This record gives sequence, C-alpha cells and structure tokens, in this order.
Amino acid sequence: MVATAAIPVNLEDEIDRLKKDRNAVILAHYYQESDIQDVADFIGDSLQLAQAAAKTTADVICFAGVHFMAETAKILNPGRTVVLPDLEAGCSLASGCPADRFAAWIAKYPGAAVVSYINCTAEVKALSDYIVTSSNAEKIVRSIPEGQTVLFAPDKNLGRYLEKKLGRKLVLWQGSCVVHETFSLRKLVGLKERHPKALVIAHPECEEAVLAMADYIGSTTALLEYAVASPATELIVVTEPGILHQMEKQAPQKTFIPAPPDANCACNECPFMKKNTLEKVYLALRDLQPRIEMTPELIARARKPIERMLALS
Ligand code: 13P
Ligand code: SF4
Repeated sequence: MVATAAIPVNLEDEIDRLKKDRNAVILAHYYQESDIQDVADFIGDSLQLAQAAAKTTADVICFAGVHFMAETAKILNPGRTVVLPDLEAGCSLASGCPADRFAAWIAKYPGAAVVSYINCTAEVKALSDYIVTSSNAEKIVRSIPEGQTVLFAPDKNLGRYLEKKLGRKLVLWQGSCVVHETFSLRKLVGLKERHPKALVIAHPECEEAVLAMADYIGSTTALLEYAVASPATELIVVTEPGILHQMEKQAPQKTFIPAPPDANCACNECPFMKKNTLEKVYLALRDLQPRIEMTPELIARARKPIERMLALS
C-alpha cells in the first residue's frame, strides 16, 4: 500500500527537498509537461537521457519519460532505484513489438544484424545486436558491413528514412508511433501556404510524405538546436509539442508553430508521456514507487547492445 499523506501546496519546493533527502536526480524528456521539465535536473533526447543515466551518481533516478526510457536507465544502473511517475507511460512502438513475435521474425534471417530502436522493451533489447536512437541510427547502421543483412525494428518510418539516407535496403518491422503518424499532410501544406517563410522541422518517426516537406529532420535535441541556431524566425515543428517549451525558452523572439494532427483532437500529444504529472513526480520521489524492476539475467542481456550503442555514439 502506498502512503497517502496530503499533497503539499508547493510541489516544486517539496520536490526540491525530496531530491536532496533522497540524493535523487530527475531526468526528463522534452515531451513532458512544462512544469515537469522545469523541475528536472537534466532534459534531453533518448540518447542523452541514456548517457545521463549511465553517468549519474545519484541513489535514485526519477525518470520523467516513458517506460522503455526508465527501463534503459535501470539496465545501466541495476544497483540504483529507478522510479517512473506513472508505470502506464508506455509507447506504441514498444507495445507493437512483442518479444515472442520479434524472436520469430529474427529467426527467419540467420546471420543478419539485429538493430533495434531504443523505443522497445528490455526483452526485445536482449534479442538485439545494436540499440540505436534517432540521433545515432545513421552512424551505427553505417558501421555494419555492406554485405550483411540488417533487420530494423520497430519503427518503419525511421527505418525508411534510414534506407534513403544510407542508400541501403533494410528489413523493416512494420511498427509506428501513434503520435507521429497523426500529422496531417493536408493541414501542413495549408500551414506552409499561410506561413511561406516558415521552415518545417520534423522528427524521423513521421511518415515519408511529411518528411518530404521538411527542411530539417532530426531527433528532439537536434530539432531544438536547429530551431535555436537557424536564422529563420518562424518554424513549423512536426513532433510532439512538448518540445516547444524549450524552444520558446531558448529562442523567445521566434515563433514556433506546432504541426496539427489530422483530426480535431489533441492527438499530436503523446498520451503516454502525458500520463506523468508534477504531482506523480512528487509522489514517486516521496514513496520511491513505482519502481522499475527486472531480473539480473534480463538486465545483463539487454545491457550489451545498449553499451555497444553508447560506445559508438
Ligand atoms: P528522441 O530520441 O528524438 O528524443 O525521440 C524519442 C521519442 O520517443 C520520439 O517519439
Ligand atoms: Fe512512443 Fe510516439 Fe510517445 Fe515517442 S511520441 S514515446 S514514439 S508513442
């Protein structure tokens, strides 16, 4: 049973106090709510968050992100406590690639290199040769000898983008991100007509036709850096709109326009990332729950391809 003391009025101060008491660190992804980003010790893309997790000396990691990210932090820190504010913060890419089906798929390609996007479960990582993120996938796949078959899972859109970049055929798992598939090409064309000077920047999880309209494609950190450094004063951002918080903080004089979803909904927001709230971050630090736990055997197997990625990054 989790203790149910009253929720304090000033959550930010209480979170600060708990961080010191517990020797805890908050790692947050850019898609988190702005108030969570503002209490985080480190904000980054998936690769930077894995690197930060590998380096931390804190006793407790409160991972404000989704399950596969917190799992990666635990794999890199088996001896530390890793808490995820809401255990149901999943990812459509990870849930669309169950380990048993993945194992059957790779068994059909003996001798192939198995490359998995970090957006997958620890069980799938344990069956992979390399883990990649959107910021290092091109470099890592390029390092695999030309003659070797490469299996890429679970994101078919990132996979297709890599095929184009590398001029090389990959065998693709047919998964996708529910958020990045929601952007409407028709509405994007309309936006571009109304803002002809705006640059379009997009995450590689978007569909091919949307990526074809982009002036720049990159991971969340790459998009942020590009948006800040670019001479453009108007940018249409085709990824989860949580990233706009840092863009607006770092370049307040610019206009950032979030790309609209197809339907009249907020489905360009990641429903999994948004499961975490500032109150749940506070409770996770207070109760050191919910924790990420895995068997030592799974941790050892999943760690190898993650370490290979960190060495190549
Ligand atoms: P990044 O690695 O670019 O932060 O992407 C993570 C993610 O889940 C995108 O949907
Ligand atoms: Fe997964 Fe898409 Fe959410 Fe990223 S935005 S965590 S890929 S569902």
